[in-house]
Amino acid sequence: MRRLDQLLANLGYCSRREARGWIQAGHVTVRGKVIDEFGTKVNPADVVVDGEPLDHPDGLLLLLHKPVGLVCSHEEREGPSVYGLLPPRWRQRNPQVTSIGRLDKDTSGLILLTDQNELVHRLTSPKHKLPKIYRATVSRDLSPELIPLFASGTLVLPDETAPCAPAELRILSPREAELTLTEGRYHQVRRMLASQGNEVLTLHRSKFGPLELADLPAGQWRHLPLDSFPKT
Ligand code: URA
Repeated sequence: MRRLDQLLANLGYCSRREARGWIQAGHVTVRGKVIDEFGTKVNPADVVVDGEPLDHPDGLLLLLHKPVGLVCSHEEREGPSVYGLLPPRWRQRNPQVTSIGRLDKDTSGLILLTDQNELVHRLTSPKHKLPKIYRATVSRDLSPELIPLFASGTLVLPDETAPCAPAELRILSPREAELTLTEGRYHQVRRMLASQGNEVLTLHRSKFGPLELADLPAGQWRHLPLDSFPKT
């Protein structure tokens, strides 16, 4: 059960003060009855605002196809972000909708967004070795010797001490490869290839654990069930 004014504010409808005004003006019903006492404890599933049930009252988990050119940051000074793709109400939610890990501005592909903090912590924890698949095009022909090197778990990136976890490289054509990582270090794909004298020209994440983009167009999302990643 949640306090009505707080619930509307946390779901991004308006400020808590505005919520009190709406409630007192009779815009909100609970199980069909107008509730004008803003502190009433309610079950979110029973609440209707101006004839509409609440917008995802239990939380959001979105699979987004991130386009190139947007950052995964809430800092406005970092430029246009993936959050600008979302409806304004979702951008006002508390807890905030945030990405599970990040993709660089110049990387496209699958990224999860959620307001479930526990899920963010669990899926970004180094203990959670969810495989992520990236497709890269590069500036120079790929040497087959990279396959055992990346798989060995011995590659140490510049300015780091811990070697990268074993990663699977599949060379698809002389300048195109798929790389499967189970960790998410800063700019990891670009830095792994750069450490071997190759520059990533384009980078796209096609899979995150069991999830794929399928035919979702860039800039669009689909909802996932909140229990998509059950605790084991
Ligand atoms: N590796 C990168 O270099 N960039 C990303 O966005 C993700 C992985």
